[in-house]
Amino acid sequence: MEIGSEQNCSKPEERCVLVCQHTSCLAAGSAAVLAAFEAAQTEFTVKGCGCQGQCSSGPTVRIIPEETWYCRVQPNDVPLIVEQHLIGGKPVEDKLHPRIHQRFNF
Ligand code: FES
Repeated sequence: MEIGSEQNCSKPEERCVLVCQHTSCLAAGSAAVLAAFEAAQTEFTVKGCGCQGQCSSGPTVRIIPEETWYCRVQPNDVPLIVEQHLIGGKPVEDKLHPRIHQRFNF
């Protein structure tokens, strides 16, 4: 498993799913979340990353360059995020990080 930051994720224009693999998120199950994204992935890059500063609400998933942040993501959330958001273009509102996103802001 490669742990990287957005700085070495990929080309700037390429969509990338960053799944925090730091202490708090790992304790909340983020290794399985990363594995679920890797298993489901189609046209996007998936990487484990360091702490994203949202430790109390992990596992944290950040999608760049659009800057969509999901909180408390569990492996069974991944298929919906992939299908509805990454493929379908509509973020999964129930999992958006409330400190970063206002509801119905899309
Ligand atoms: S440990 Fe994951 S956001 Fe800090």
